Amino acid sequence: MPSKQVTNNDDAVYTTSNGAPVARPYAAEKIGLHGPLLLQGPCHFHHIDLLAHFDRERIPERVVHAKGAGAHGYFEVTHDITDLTSASLFKKVGNKARTTVRFSTVGGESGSADTARDPRGFAIKIRTDEGNLDWVFNNTPVFFLRDPAKFPHFIHTQKRDPQTHLKDADMFWDYLSQNPESIHQLLILFSDRGTPNGYHNMHGYSGHTFKFVRDDGEWVYVQIHVRADGGFKTLDSETAGRLSGENPDYGIQALFEAIENKQYPSWTVYVQTMTPQQAEAFRYNVLDLTKVWPHKDYPLRPVGKIVLNENPQNYFAEIEQSAFSPSHTVPGIEPSADPVLQSRLFSYPDTHRHRLGVNYQQLPVNAPIVPVANFQRDGAGTFVSQGARPSYQSTISPLTYRPKPYTNTEHKHEVWAGHARAHLYEISELDFEQPRNLYTKVLSDADREHLVHNIAANLRNVKSAEIKARQLAVFAAVDQSLSDVIAKAIGAPTTLPLAVAPATAVVPLKTNVGQKVVS
Ligand code: HEM
Repeated sequence: MPSKQVTNNDDAVYTTSNGAPVARPYAAEKIGLHGPLLLQGPCHFHHIDLLAHFDRERIPERVVHAKGAGAHGYFEVTHDITDLTSASLFKKVGNKARTTVRFSTVGGESGSADTARDPRGFAIKIRTDEGNLDWVFNNTPVFFLRDPAKFPHFIHTQKRDPQTHLKDADMFWDYLSQNPESIHQLLILFSDRGTPNGYHNMHGYSGHTFKFVRDDGEWVYVQIHVRADGGFKTLDSETAGRLSGENPDYGIQALFEAIENKQYPSWTVYVQTMTPQQAEAFRYNVLDLTKVWPHKDYPLRPVGKIVLNENPQNYFAEIEQSAFSPSHTVPGIEPSADPVLQSRLFSYPDTHRHRLGVNYQQLPVNAPIVPVANFQRDGAGTFVSQGARPSYQSTISPLTYRPKPYTNTEHKHEVWAGHARAHLYEISELDFEQPRNLYTKVLSDADREHLVHNIAANLRNVKSAEIKARQLAVFAAVDQSLSDVIAKAIGAPTTLPLAVAPATAVVPLKTNVGQKVVS
């Protein structure tokens, strides 16, 4: 029998962890008035129990996205998309699934300021009747890189210097200026979108291309957008900076209070879709996480909504111990071949096993609402048993398997072939088109002014003239006037654009859909 969980202020009696009542919670037991502590009796176990548990209260914080806030609510299907996916969640308009969302900053530690300039994480766990579907999104539609081998290097440049234990602007800009494909994300980060006004006033984006698959094997590429119904609200850098000092937990507090006050944050969920044939004709590679799909060519199609209407009762159990992974997916929703996404499929469950233990999926916040039936057994922290069910594929008491309604999906998915090679992807003019469009057409005059101000405020902290010049050359490749105005603001010489390969140098995506597979 599982122990009865005590929740809120009820009439519970104070006990040790084995449930024995304790008369004096504040008193250790000792001999006489001034003698040593006693290593016996219920009072002593109480004392050791308390100390020993206290000594183990901390678990590793997330290696990235350590600071966060979260809440529960639901996902509701509002539009029929059965033409796109056979995922059981989307089988019927009106389907609702209990959902947990965790928002986060990325680079800082778990005590860092909520209003720091940083991308924000937007992780969503949707508990469907075919297992948990995690959408582990950010609040920007693109990312800094398209080769996953760069990720730990890049993150290290935002963490502390190995010797000084200080954050270092030179490390940060050294990386960015060497890896110009980061420019699109960089411009978004240094616009006021880099300092959202609270965790719940922002959009979330899959960033990666995913695949929606139907039972008959037909599929499309998708990008998922989760748009805040109240709009994406931002702070200017001065206000964000002031709040970092005055109230580092500004975002946690705003989310908690909005829900307590029944001003439930909500989002509308949309998809953009692309057929494999469209993907081959697309100007950019759909597997390149540094690019967006223009809305006018690939319009947003509404599919559902997310509402957060329940604060956690216990932050640690329900939010800190939540474990999201792009590999927690369900039939009908699949990862694409985006190499960054493919690496993430490994990295998250790996870090969960380290952070929470091998049975992290059994923790209440992570446990699926459907029964789990497999051959995984035991390990530290097992608290959901599979009873007497055999622990191997038995003929005596076999597990049943759901037959696949289709047999020929191999023919319909991509057919990849080629020699093993490094994932080199030359910087070309293609990498600057969307950032240029963002800077010259999408941003308003005021946005542009803030962008330059925000970049200059950070870049001027760089000590190395070489790094500054290299980054100014990247800005110049977007737009010479952008680079010049930043150079002036930081007192650096103007710089010519970085030389890049022409757009035609990039090998277009070839998915070979429909090609016969020889096995
Ligand atoms: C958290 C790895 C790229 C969104 C994490 C964590 C790791 C990680 C190890 C900590 C997870 C935990 O302790 O529970 C990586 C790697 C990446 C990558 C290796 C690229 C190679 C991305 C991208 C996005 C993203 C592109 C968004 C599009 C998130 C979010 C969290 C997170 C939202 C926080 C999840 C939570 O709230 O628990 N990432 N990441 N990451 N990552 Fe990534």
